Amino acid sequence: MSNAAISESASRRRQGELGQFLTPAPVADFMASLFGLLPNVVRLLDAGAGAGALTAAFVSRLCEKSDGVRAIEATLYELDPFIQAALSETMQDCQRICAEAGIRFSFAIHATDFIQEMSALLENSLFATKPPAFDVAIVNPPYRKIGADSAERRNLRQVGVETSNLYTGFVALIQRLLAPGGQIVGITPRSFCNGPYFRSFREDFLNNLEIHRLHVFESRGAAFREDSVLQENIIFHAVKGRKQPRQLVISSSSGEHGDIVAEKAIPFAEIVHKHDAEKFIHIPSASGHAAAKKTMHGLHSTLTSLGVSVSTGRVVDFRLKDALRWKPEKGTVPLLYPCHFNGGTVHWPMPEARKPNAILNNDETRPWLVRAGVYLLTKRFTSKEERRRLVACIFDPEAVESEWLGFENHLNYFHSDGHGLDRRLAVGLFAFLNSTVVDQYFRRFSGHTQVNATDLRTLTYPDRKTLQAIGTEMKSLDLSQDEIDGLVEKHLHAH
Ligand SMILES: C[S@@+](CC[C@H](N)C(=O)[O-])C[C@H]1O[C@@H](n2cnc3c(N)ncnc32)[C@H](O)[C@@H]1O
Repeated sequence: MSNAAISESASRRRQGELGQFLTPAPVADFMASLFGLLPNVVRLLDAGAGAGALTAAFVSRLCEKSDGVRAIEATLYELDPFIQAALSETMQDCQRICAEAGIRFSFAIHATDFIQEMSALLENSLFATKPPAFDVAIVNPPYRKIGADSAERRNLRQVGVETSNLYTGFVALIQRLLAPGGQIVGITPRSFCNGPYFRSFREDFLNNLEIHRLHVFESRGAAFREDSVLQENIIFHAVKGRKQPRQLVISSSSGEHGDIVAEKAIPFAEIVHKHDAEKFIHIPSASGHAAAKKTMHGLHSTLTSLGVSVSTGRVVDFRLKDALRWKPEKGTVPLLYPCHFNGGTVHWPMPEARKPNAILNNDETRPWLVRAGVYLLTKRFTSKEERRRLVACIFDPEAVESEWLGFENHLNYFHSDGHGLDRRLAVGLFAFLNSTVVDQYFRRFSGHTQVNATDLRTLTYPDRKTLQAIGTEMKSLDLSQDEIDGLVEKHLHAH
Protein backbone atom coordinates (compact mmCIF):
# COMPACT_ATOMS: atom_id res chain seq x y z
CA MET A 1 0.00 0.00 0.00
CA SER A 2 1.39 3.44 -0.90
CA ASN A 3 1.89 6.20 1.65
CA ALA A 4 -0.82 8.24 -0.07
CA ALA A 5 -3.33 5.40 0.15
CA ILE A 6 -2.57 4.84 3.79
CA SER A 7 -2.92 8.47 4.72
CA GLU A 8 -6.25 8.61 2.91
CA SER A 9 -7.61 5.53 4.61
CA ALA A 10 -6.79 6.54 8.17
CA SER A 11 -9.13 9.23 9.34
CA ARG A 12 -7.71 12.70 9.91
CA ARG A 13 -8.80 12.65 13.51
CA ARG A 14 -7.02 9.42 14.19
CA GLN A 15 -3.95 10.75 12.46
CA GLY A 16 -4.06 13.76 14.75
CA GLU A 17 -4.36 11.64 17.89
CA LEU A 18 -1.48 9.42 16.90
CA GLY A 19 0.55 12.27 15.44
CA GLN A 20 0.64 10.28 12.24
CA PHE A 21 2.27 12.00 9.28
CA LEU A 22 4.05 9.66 6.96
CA THR A 23 7.40 10.62 5.47
CA PRO A 24 7.34 11.06 1.69
CA ALA A 25 9.75 8.71 -0.09
CA PRO A 26 12.26 11.37 -1.32
CA VAL A 27 12.57 12.78 2.20
CA ALA A 28 12.97 9.28 3.69
CA ASP A 29 15.67 8.50 1.13
CA PHE A 30 17.49 11.75 1.91
CA MET A 31 17.37 10.93 5.62
CA ALA A 32 18.78 7.46 4.98
CA SER A 33 21.64 8.99 3.01
CA LEU A 34 22.90 10.93 6.03
CA PHE A 35 24.27 8.07 8.12
CA GLY A 36 28.03 7.75 8.52
CA LEU A 37 30.08 4.61 8.92
CA LEU A 38 28.10 1.62 10.20
CA PRO A 39 29.09 -1.52 12.16
CA ASN A 40 28.96 -4.94 10.47
CA VAL A 41 25.82 -5.82 12.33
CA VAL A 42 23.42 -2.87 12.54
CA ARG A 43 20.93 -2.84 15.37
CA LEU A 44 18.27 -0.52 13.97
CA LEU A 45 15.45 1.24 15.83
CA ASP A 46 12.41 2.73 14.07
CA ALA A 47 10.13 4.15 16.77
CA GLY A 48 6.68 5.21 15.54
CA ALA A 49 7.35 3.28 12.36
CA GLY A 50 4.04 3.89 10.53
CA ALA A 51 4.15 1.77 7.38
CA GLY A 52 7.93 1.43 7.65
CA ALA A 53 8.97 4.08 5.12
CA LEU A 54 12.11 5.03 7.02
CA THR A 55 13.43 1.52 7.59
CA ALA A 56 12.67 0.74 3.95
CA ALA A 57 14.68 3.77 2.81
CA PHE A 58 17.57 2.81 5.09
CA VAL A 59 17.57 -0.74 3.81
CA SER A 60 17.44 0.18 0.15
CA ARG A 61 20.35 2.65 0.54
CA LEU A 62 22.41 0.07 2.34
CA CYS A 63 21.69 -2.64 -0.19
CA GLU A 64 22.90 -0.34 -2.96
CA LYS A 65 26.30 0.26 -1.41
CA SER A 66 26.48 -2.42 1.32
CA ASP A 67 29.59 -0.86 3.04
CA GLY A 68 30.55 -4.13 4.67
CA VAL A 69 27.29 -4.45 6.62
CA ARG A 70 26.45 -8.14 7.04
CA ALA A 71 23.26 -7.97 9.03
CA ILE A 72 20.45 -5.63 10.04
CA GLU A 73 18.42 -6.35 13.13
CA ALA A 74 15.42 -4.03 13.00
CA THR A 75 13.21 -3.16 15.96
CA LEU A 76 10.01 -1.32 15.11
CA TYR A 77 7.43 0.27 17.39
CA GLU A 78 4.02 1.18 16.02
CA LEU A 79 0.86 1.69 18.05
CA ASP A 80 -1.73 1.96 15.27
CA PRO A 81 -3.38 -1.43 14.59
CA PHE A 82 -4.65 -0.21 11.21
CA ILE A 83 -1.17 0.24 9.83
CA GLN A 84 0.37 -3.00 11.13
CA ALA A 85 -0.37 -5.00 7.98
CA ALA A 86 1.33 -2.43 5.79
CA LEU A 87 4.28 -2.36 8.19
CA SER A 88 4.84 -6.12 8.10
CA GLU A 89 4.49 -6.09 4.34
CA THR A 90 7.21 -3.45 4.10
CA MET A 91 9.43 -5.48 6.42
CA GLN A 92 9.02 -8.55 4.25
CA ASP A 93 10.03 -6.46 1.25
CA CYS A 94 13.12 -5.35 3.17
CA GLN A 95 13.96 -8.95 3.94
CA ARG A 96 13.73 -9.82 0.24
CA ILE A 97 15.89 -6.89 -0.92
CA CYS A 98 18.47 -7.63 1.75
CA ALA A 99 18.59 -11.31 0.82
CA GLU A 100 19.35 -10.32 -2.77
CA ALA A 101 22.16 -8.07 -1.54
CA GLY A 102 23.57 -10.80 0.72
CA ILE A 103 22.57 -9.04 3.94
CA ARG A 104 20.78 -10.86 6.73
CA PHE A 105 17.66 -8.94 7.78
CA SER A 106 15.61 -9.73 10.85
CA PHE A 107 12.85 -7.66 12.38
CA ALA A 108 10.62 -7.42 15.42
CA ILE A 109 7.46 -5.33 15.31
CA HIS A 110 6.13 -4.16 18.67
CA ALA A 111 2.52 -3.04 18.53
CA THR A 112 2.99 -1.28 21.86
CA ASP A 113 3.48 2.19 23.27
CA PHE A 114 7.12 3.12 22.75
CA ILE A 115 7.14 5.74 25.50
CA GLN A 116 5.57 3.47 28.10
CA GLU A 117 7.65 0.44 27.27
CA MET A 118 11.01 2.13 26.98
CA SER A 119 10.57 4.38 30.00
CA ALA A 120 9.82 1.29 32.06
CA LEU A 121 12.82 -0.60 30.66
CA LEU A 122 15.16 2.32 31.19
CA GLU A 123 13.88 2.92 34.69
CA ASN A 124 14.28 -0.70 35.74
CA SER A 125 17.56 -1.18 33.98
CA LEU A 126 19.49 -1.11 37.24
CA PHE A 127 17.56 -4.02 38.70
CA ALA A 128 16.04 -6.10 35.96
CA THR A 129 16.29 -6.57 32.20
CA LYS A 130 18.65 -4.26 30.42
CA PRO A 131 17.05 -2.05 27.77
CA PRO A 132 18.14 -2.85 24.22
CA ALA A 133 20.97 -0.85 22.64
CA PHE A 134 20.94 0.42 19.06
CA ASP A 135 23.57 1.50 16.56
CA VAL A 136 21.14 3.33 14.32
CA ALA A 137 17.82 5.08 14.88
CA ILE A 138 15.81 6.57 12.08
CA VAL A 139 12.72 8.39 13.22
CA ASN A 140 9.79 10.59 12.33
CA PRO A 141 8.18 10.63 15.77
CA PRO A 142 4.55 11.55 16.43
CA TYR A 143 3.95 15.22 17.24
CA ARG A 144 1.43 15.97 19.92
CA LYS A 145 1.38 18.05 23.07
CA ILE A 146 1.36 15.99 26.24
CA GLY A 147 -0.29 17.47 29.29
CA ALA A 148 1.49 17.84 32.62
CA ASP A 149 -0.58 15.01 34.19
CA SER A 150 -0.68 12.67 31.21
CA ALA A 151 0.55 9.09 31.42
CA GLU A 152 3.26 9.87 28.85
CA ARG A 153 4.55 12.73 30.97
CA ARG A 154 4.67 10.56 34.06
CA ASN A 155 6.44 7.77 32.20
CA LEU A 156 9.03 10.13 30.80
CA ARG A 157 9.53 11.85 34.13
CA GLN A 158 10.53 8.49 35.66
CA VAL A 159 13.63 8.46 33.49
CA GLY A 160 14.42 12.13 33.97
CA VAL A 161 12.83 13.45 30.76
CA GLU A 162 10.68 16.53 31.27
CA THR A 163 9.04 17.56 28.02
CA SER A 164 5.66 18.69 26.75
CA ASN A 165 5.56 17.05 23.32
CA LEU A 166 5.58 13.44 22.20
CA TYR A 167 8.25 14.04 19.61
CA THR A 168 10.83 15.33 22.06
CA GLY A 169 9.89 12.48 24.40
CA PHE A 170 10.63 9.99 21.61
CA VAL A 171 13.98 11.60 20.77
CA ALA A 172 15.04 11.79 24.43
CA LEU A 173 14.33 8.07 24.90
CA ILE A 174 16.03 7.09 21.65
CA GLN A 175 19.10 9.03 22.72
CA ARG A 176 19.25 6.94 25.88
CA LEU A 177 18.94 3.72 23.89
CA LEU A 178 21.80 4.46 21.50
CA ALA A 179 25.10 2.66 22.02
CA PRO A 180 28.14 4.96 22.28
CA GLY A 181 28.86 6.17 18.75
CA GLY A 182 25.32 5.17 17.72
CA GLN A 183 23.64 7.45 15.19
CA ILE A 184 20.22 9.02 14.92
CA VAL A 185 18.64 10.65 11.91
CA GLY A 186 15.32 12.27 12.74
CA ILE A 187 12.76 14.52 11.17
CA THR A 188 10.84 16.63 13.67
CA PRO A 189 9.27 20.06 14.01
CA ARG A 190 11.82 22.81 14.37
CA SER A 191 10.21 24.09 17.53
CA PHE A 192 12.68 22.39 19.86
CA CYS A 193 15.50 24.56 18.51
CA ASN A 194 14.30 27.72 20.19
CA GLY A 195 10.95 27.06 21.84
CA PRO A 196 10.99 28.31 25.42
CA TYR A 197 9.43 25.05 26.67
CA PHE A 198 12.15 22.89 25.17
CA ARG A 199 15.07 24.19 27.18
CA SER A 200 15.65 21.08 29.26
CA PHE A 201 15.21 18.89 26.19
CA ARG A 202 17.84 20.93 24.31
CA GLU A 203 20.21 20.59 27.21
CA ASP A 204 19.74 16.82 27.34
CA PHE A 205 20.09 16.58 23.55
CA LEU A 206 23.23 18.72 23.32
CA ASN A 207 24.89 17.00 26.29
CA ASN A 208 24.50 13.54 24.80
CA LEU A 209 24.33 13.89 21.04
CA GLU A 210 26.96 15.38 18.77
CA ILE A 211 25.22 17.16 15.91
CA HIS A 212 26.75 16.42 12.53
CA ARG A 213 24.11 17.79 10.21
CA LEU A 214 21.02 19.98 10.31
CA HIS A 215 18.76 20.21 7.30
CA VAL A 216 15.89 22.65 6.93
CA PHE A 217 13.14 23.08 4.39
CA GLU A 218 13.01 26.48 2.79
CA SER A 219 9.27 26.73 2.46
CA ARG A 220 6.79 25.89 5.15
CA GLY A 221 4.90 22.66 4.72
CA ALA A 222 6.99 21.53 1.78
CA ALA A 223 8.03 18.29 3.44
CA PHE A 224 4.48 17.20 4.09
CA ARG A 225 2.59 18.89 1.33
CA GLU A 226 0.16 15.97 1.06
CA ASP A 227 -0.86 16.22 4.67
CA SER A 228 -0.66 20.01 4.62
CA VAL A 229 1.16 20.04 7.92
CA LEU A 230 2.28 23.59 8.27
CA GLN A 231 5.04 22.76 10.66
CA GLU A 232 8.51 23.85 9.95
CA ASN A 233 10.47 20.65 9.87
CA ILE A 234 14.08 19.89 10.50
CA ILE A 235 16.17 16.83 9.80
CA PHE A 236 19.13 16.13 12.03
CA HIS A 237 21.92 13.60 12.04
CA ALA A 238 23.59 13.19 15.41
CA VAL A 239 25.96 10.75 17.05
CA LYS A 240 25.83 9.59 20.65
CA GLY A 241 28.75 11.24 22.40
CA ARG A 242 29.72 14.27 24.43
CA LYS A 243 32.02 16.24 22.20
CA GLN A 244 30.32 18.53 19.70
CA PRO A 245 32.20 18.79 16.39
CA ARG A 246 34.02 22.05 15.63
CA GLN A 247 31.77 22.54 12.66
CA LEU A 248 28.75 20.91 11.14
CA VAL A 249 26.91 20.88 7.87
CA ILE A 250 23.80 22.99 7.49
CA SER A 251 21.77 22.25 4.42
CA SER A 252 18.45 23.20 2.94
CA SER A 253 16.07 22.17 0.20
CA SER A 254 12.44 22.75 -0.67
CA GLY A 255 11.45 19.16 0.08
CA GLU A 256 10.21 18.65 -3.46
CA HIS A 257 11.39 15.61 -5.35
CA GLY A 258 14.73 15.90 -7.12
CA ASP A 259 15.40 19.28 -5.63
CA ILE A 260 18.93 20.56 -5.13
CA VAL A 261 20.34 20.62 -1.65
CA ALA A 262 22.38 23.68 -0.72
CA GLU A 263 24.93 23.05 2.01
CA LYS A 264 27.36 25.01 4.09
CA ALA A 265 29.80 24.13 6.90
CA ILE A 266 29.17 26.36 9.93
CA PRO A 267 31.16 26.45 13.18
CA PHE A 268 29.23 24.83 16.02
CA ALA A 269 29.80 27.99 18.07
CA GLU A 270 27.52 29.86 15.68
CA ILE A 271 24.80 27.28 16.02
CA VAL A 272 24.75 27.10 19.81
CA HIS A 273 26.29 30.13 21.48
CA LYS A 274 28.66 29.36 24.27
CA HIS A 275 27.12 31.52 26.98
CA ASP A 276 23.51 31.11 26.00
CA ALA A 277 21.73 29.68 29.04
CA GLU A 278 18.72 28.89 26.84
CA LYS A 279 20.89 26.75 24.53
CA PHE A 280 19.08 27.90 21.41
CA ILE A 281 19.98 26.05 18.23
CA HIS A 282 20.39 28.70 15.54
CA ILE A 283 20.05 27.40 12.01
CA PRO A 284 21.08 29.71 9.23
CA SER A 285 19.51 28.75 5.94
CA ALA A 286 22.41 27.87 3.69
CA SER A 287 21.12 29.14 0.37
CA GLY A 288 19.29 32.18 1.76
CA HIS A 289 22.38 33.34 3.59
CA ALA A 290 24.68 33.06 0.64
CA ALA A 291 22.20 34.98 -1.51
CA ALA A 292 21.71 37.66 1.16
CA LYS A 293 25.45 38.17 1.45
CA LYS A 294 25.76 38.59 -2.29
CA THR A 295 22.91 41.10 -2.43
CA MET A 296 24.20 43.16 0.49
CA HIS A 297 27.73 43.24 -0.85
CA GLY A 298 26.33 44.60 -4.10
CA LEU A 299 24.97 47.68 -2.31
CA HIS A 300 27.27 50.65 -1.90
CA SER A 301 25.44 53.33 0.07
CA THR A 302 25.89 53.92 3.75
CA LEU A 303 23.64 55.78 6.14
CA THR A 304 26.16 58.65 6.08
CA SER A 305 26.08 58.87 2.30
CA LEU A 306 22.28 58.87 2.47
CA GLY A 307 22.38 61.76 4.95
CA VAL A 308 20.62 59.63 7.53
CA SER A 309 21.63 58.97 11.13
CA VAL A 310 20.47 56.36 13.57
CA SER A 311 20.38 56.91 17.31
CA THR A 312 19.14 55.07 20.34
CA GLY A 313 15.95 56.54 21.85
CA ARG A 314 17.03 59.26 24.27
CA VAL A 315 14.41 58.91 26.96
CA VAL A 316 15.78 56.60 29.63
CA ASP A 317 12.58 56.15 31.57
CA PHE A 318 13.95 55.44 35.02
CA ARG A 319 16.04 58.62 34.90
CA LEU A 320 13.01 60.76 34.05
CA LYS A 321 10.52 58.92 36.24
CA ASP A 322 8.83 62.04 37.61
CA ALA A 323 8.12 63.34 34.11
CA LEU A 324 6.35 60.20 32.87
CA ARG A 325 2.56 59.96 32.65
CA TRP A 326 0.44 56.87 31.98
CA LYS A 327 -2.00 58.86 29.88
CA PRO A 328 -1.54 61.95 27.74
CA GLU A 329 -2.55 65.11 29.58
CA LYS A 330 -2.04 68.84 29.25
CA GLY A 331 1.64 69.73 29.03
CA THR A 332 2.75 66.25 27.90
CA VAL A 333 3.88 64.87 24.55
CA PRO A 334 3.77 61.29 23.21
CA LEU A 335 6.35 58.88 24.58
CA LEU A 336 6.96 55.90 22.33
CA TYR A 337 8.08 52.44 23.36
CA PRO A 338 8.38 49.27 21.23
CA CYS A 339 4.93 48.29 22.57
CA HIS A 340 3.51 51.06 20.39
CA PHE A 341 4.69 49.27 17.24
CA ASN A 342 1.66 48.00 15.44
CA GLY A 343 2.41 46.31 12.14
CA GLY A 344 4.17 48.93 10.10
CA THR A 345 2.99 51.95 12.04
CA VAL A 346 2.78 53.40 15.51
CA HIS A 347 -0.36 52.85 17.53
CA TRP A 348 -0.56 55.53 20.22
CA PRO A 349 -1.72 55.91 22.92
CA MET A 350 -2.04 52.40 24.32
CA PRO A 351 -3.84 52.85 27.65
CA GLU A 352 -3.78 49.10 28.26
CA ALA A 353 0.01 48.90 27.83
CA ARG A 354 2.19 48.56 30.87
CA LYS A 355 4.27 51.54 29.80
CA PRO A 356 3.66 55.25 30.25
CA ASN A 357 2.24 56.86 27.12
CA ALA A 358 3.38 60.42 27.71
CA ILE A 359 6.16 62.57 29.04
CA LEU A 360 6.06 66.15 30.31
CA ASN A 361 7.37 68.67 27.84
CA ASN A 362 9.45 71.09 29.93
CA ASP A 363 12.98 72.46 30.24
CA GLU A 364 14.17 69.36 32.03
CA THR A 365 12.84 66.87 29.47
CA ARG A 366 13.26 68.93 26.23
CA PRO A 367 16.92 67.86 25.65
CA TRP A 368 15.66 64.26 25.40
CA LEU A 369 12.81 64.99 23.02
CA VAL A 370 12.75 65.34 19.22
CA ARG A 371 10.68 67.58 16.97
CA ALA A 372 7.77 65.90 15.22
CA GLY A 373 8.48 64.50 11.75
CA VAL A 374 8.55 61.24 9.84
CA TYR A 375 10.86 58.83 11.65
CA LEU A 376 11.79 55.24 11.05
CA LEU A 377 11.91 53.25 14.29
CA THR A 378 13.40 49.84 14.99
CA LYS A 379 13.19 47.66 18.07
CA ARG A 380 16.47 47.18 19.93
CA PHE A 381 15.37 43.89 21.43
CA THR A 382 13.16 41.45 19.64
CA SER A 383 11.58 38.50 21.37
CA LYS A 384 12.81 35.06 20.41
CA GLU A 385 9.46 34.26 18.87
CA GLU A 386 9.56 37.23 16.51
CA ARG A 387 10.01 36.14 12.92
CA ARG A 388 12.58 38.76 12.07
CA ARG A 389 15.51 40.06 14.02
CA LEU A 390 14.96 43.53 12.62
CA VAL A 391 11.53 45.00 13.24
CA ALA A 392 10.98 48.47 11.79
CA CYS A 393 7.99 50.78 11.80
CA ILE A 394 7.17 54.31 10.65
CA PHE A 395 6.26 57.18 12.93
CA ASP A 396 3.88 59.38 10.99
CA PRO A 397 3.18 62.85 12.47
CA GLU A 398 -0.17 62.89 10.70
CA ALA A 399 -1.34 59.93 12.79
CA VAL A 400 -0.03 61.22 16.12
CA GLU A 401 -0.19 64.99 16.30
CA SER A 402 2.29 66.73 18.53
CA GLU A 403 5.07 69.27 18.15
CA TRP A 404 7.52 67.20 20.20
CA LEU A 405 8.04 63.50 20.85
CA GLY A 406 9.92 61.21 23.17
CA PHE A 407 11.56 58.02 21.86
CA GLU A 408 12.31 55.61 24.67
CA ASN A 409 15.65 53.91 25.00
CA HIS A 410 14.47 50.45 23.86
CA LEU A 411 14.15 51.64 20.29
CA ASN A 412 16.43 53.13 17.67
CA TYR A 413 15.28 55.98 15.46
CA PHE A 414 16.49 57.01 12.03
CA HIS A 415 16.60 60.77 11.51
CA SER A 416 18.13 63.48 9.43
CA ASP A 417 20.39 65.52 11.68
CA GLY A 418 17.95 65.25 14.55
CA HIS A 419 14.90 65.98 12.41
CA GLY A 420 12.39 63.86 10.54
CA LEU A 421 13.11 62.13 7.22
CA ASP A 422 11.79 62.59 3.72
CA ARG A 423 8.69 60.36 3.73
CA ARG A 424 9.53 58.36 0.62
CA LEU A 425 13.06 57.72 1.84
CA ALA A 426 11.75 56.64 5.26
CA VAL A 427 9.25 54.23 3.70
CA GLY A 428 11.93 52.84 1.37
CA LEU A 429 14.21 52.23 4.36
CA PHE A 430 11.28 50.69 6.19
CA ALA A 431 10.75 48.11 3.42
CA PHE A 432 14.46 47.43 3.07
CA LEU A 433 15.06 46.87 6.79
CA ASN A 434 11.98 44.66 7.08
CA SER A 435 13.04 42.52 4.13
CA THR A 436 14.15 38.91 4.43
CA VAL A 437 17.45 39.72 2.69
CA VAL A 438 18.48 42.11 5.45
CA ASP A 439 17.21 39.76 8.14
CA GLN A 440 19.25 36.87 6.80
CA TYR A 441 22.32 39.00 6.36
CA PHE A 442 21.93 40.34 9.85
CA ARG A 443 21.65 36.87 11.34
CA ARG A 444 24.98 35.95 9.79
CA PHE A 445 26.85 38.19 12.12
CA SER A 446 24.51 38.70 15.01
CA GLY A 447 23.82 35.65 17.11
CA HIS A 448 21.66 37.47 19.65
CA THR A 449 18.32 39.16 19.46
CA GLN A 450 19.68 42.65 20.14
CA VAL A 451 19.92 45.22 17.35
CA ASN A 452 22.26 48.07 18.20
CA ALA A 453 22.49 51.41 16.40
CA THR A 454 26.06 50.44 15.47
CA ASP A 455 24.80 47.31 13.72
CA LEU A 456 22.46 49.47 11.67
CA ARG A 457 25.30 51.88 10.82
CA THR A 458 27.52 49.11 9.50
CA LEU A 459 24.93 47.75 7.06
CA THR A 460 25.13 48.71 3.39
CA TYR A 461 22.02 50.29 1.89
CA PRO A 462 20.50 50.86 -1.56
CA ASP A 463 21.08 54.39 -2.91
CA ARG A 464 18.64 57.23 -2.22
CA LYS A 465 16.95 56.96 -5.62
CA THR A 466 16.24 53.25 -5.17
CA LEU A 467 14.97 53.71 -1.62
CA GLN A 468 12.69 56.53 -2.74
CA ALA A 469 11.40 54.43 -5.63
CA ILE A 470 10.56 51.63 -3.18
CA GLY A 471 8.94 54.21 -0.89
CA THR A 472 6.84 55.60 -3.74
CA GLU A 473 5.59 52.21 -4.81
CA MET A 474 4.75 51.12 -1.31
CA LYS A 475 1.18 52.31 -0.97
CA SER A 476 0.50 50.63 2.36
CA LEU A 477 2.77 49.87 5.28
CA ASP A 478 0.77 46.79 6.07
CA LEU A 479 2.22 44.48 3.40
CA SER A 480 2.91 40.79 3.88
CA GLN A 481 6.50 39.55 4.11
CA ASP A 482 6.28 38.19 0.57
CA GLU A 483 5.02 41.52 -0.76
CA ILE A 484 7.81 43.44 0.96
CA ASP A 485 10.42 41.00 -0.33
CA GLY A 486 9.02 41.14 -3.84
CA LEU A 487 9.08 44.93 -3.89
CA VAL A 488 12.60 45.22 -2.48
CA GLU A 489 14.00 42.57 -4.80
CA LYS A 490 12.41 44.16 -7.84
CA HIS A 491 14.02 47.53 -7.14
CA LEU A 492 17.40 46.14 -6.11
CA HIS A 493 17.62 44.32 -9.40
CA ALA A 494 16.32 47.26 -11.44
CA HIS A 495 18.96 49.74 -10.26
C1 LIG B 1 4.82 10.94 12.31
S1 LIG B 1 4.31 9.28 12.09
C2 LIG B 1 5.66 8.65 11.20
C3 LIG B 1 5.47 7.32 10.62
C4 LIG B 1 6.67 6.74 9.88
N1 LIG B 1 7.85 6.65 10.72
C5 LIG B 1 7.02 7.57 8.67
O1 LIG B 1 8.01 8.26 8.75
O2 LIG B 1 6.31 7.52 7.68
C6 LIG B 1 4.47 8.67 13.74
C7 LIG B 1 3.93 7.29 13.99
O3 LIG B 1 4.05 7.00 15.38
C8 LIG B 1 2.94 6.22 15.81
N2 LIG B 1 2.79 6.42 17.26
C9 LIG B 1 2.19 7.44 17.90
N3 LIG B 1 2.32 7.31 19.22
C10 LIG B 1 3.04 6.18 19.42
C11 LIG B 1 3.52 5.51 20.58
N4 LIG B 1 3.30 6.01 21.79
N5 LIG B 1 4.22 4.37 20.43
C12 LIG B 1 4.47 3.87 19.19
N6 LIG B 1 4.04 4.46 18.07
C13 LIG B 1 3.35 5.60 18.17
C14 LIG B 1 1.79 6.76 14.98
O4 LIG B 1 0.76 5.82 14.84
C15 LIG B 1 2.47 7.08 13.65
O5 LIG B 1 2.33 6.01 12.74
